[in-house]
Amino acid sequence: MIEVRNLSFEVPQGKEDKEILRDVSFSVPDNRFVAITGPNGSGKSTLAKLIAGIERPTGGRVVLNGEDITELSVTEHAKKGIGFAFQQPVHFKGIEVIDLLRIASGNPNLTVGDACEALSEVGLCAREYVRREINASLSGGELKRIEIASVMLRNAALTIFDEPEAGIDLWSFQNLIRVFQRLREKNHGTILVISHQERILNIADEIIVIEEGRLKARGTKDEILPGLLESGSAAVSCFKTDGGNA
Ligand SMILES: Nc1ncnc2c1ncn2[C@@H]1O[C@H](COP(=O)(O)OP(=O)(O)OP(=O)(O)O)[C@@H](O)[C@H]1O
Ligand SMILES: [Mg+2]
Repeated sequence: MIEVRNLSFEVPQGKEDKEILRDVSFSVPDNRFVAITGPNGSGKSTLAKLIAGIERPTGGRVVLNGEDITELSVTEHAKKGIGFAFQQPVHFKGIEVIDLLRIASGNPNLTVGDACEALSEVGLCAREYVRREINASLSGGELKRIEIASVMLRNAALTIFDEPEAGIDLWSFQNLIRVFQRLREKNHGTILVISHQERILNIADEIIVIEEGRLKARGTKDEILPGLLESGSAAVSCFKTDGGNA
């Protein structure tokens, strides 16, 4: 279970502090799939970085399975079983895709077969990519998908995806939804997905809405989605890829 207790994050701005997150509290039991949504700039990525230990909160605690992990380094967060897929993937220049997948999965003996399977799951033709060097010749969408594959291979107890749909084309988006559905079915630990996409919100057990740095609402998709769509919220957009609006 991951618990966020009264989390706040302020940054210095001139003479005053700018408040980015204020008093956000929620808990997510194991093996839940929770979507976090809200307008641009509302503090979602910040929240994710605080949970993953990439930033330190100025107030509040992050508690994993009863243990306070707020002050631990990002490496220690990772060791405790928290995986993070960035909104803008980090480049590990100069190594091959297979090496990245081995490092990310924590399994130096990861076979080419397993790597290929993970790449295929995110819609990449595995044989073309597994030996490819990670450099500027990979497109943004390719990098993003390689990053998603690497996070999936980690099998973390808690995985946070920050806008996995960003920069991904329609065909791959459909695939991505299937990837998430499979992750859910496999009880692949707890998953927090930050997303603006209705189809991702739709497959979540629960939706958390962050607005102006505060937790605005939390509930099942039936409780939350109609309100979001009705208000024409900038937070949500529909991705129609198969003729139907899921
Ligand atoms: N270290 C920082 N210093 C100053 N401002 C920051 C810092 N980190 C975040 N912010 C600001 O805090 C706000 C929230 O940023 P954040 O990236 O969390 O938003 P978001 O909800 O993820 O938005 P998006 O949907 O566009 O990804 C933004 O206005 C951002 O510019
Ligand atoms: Mg963000």
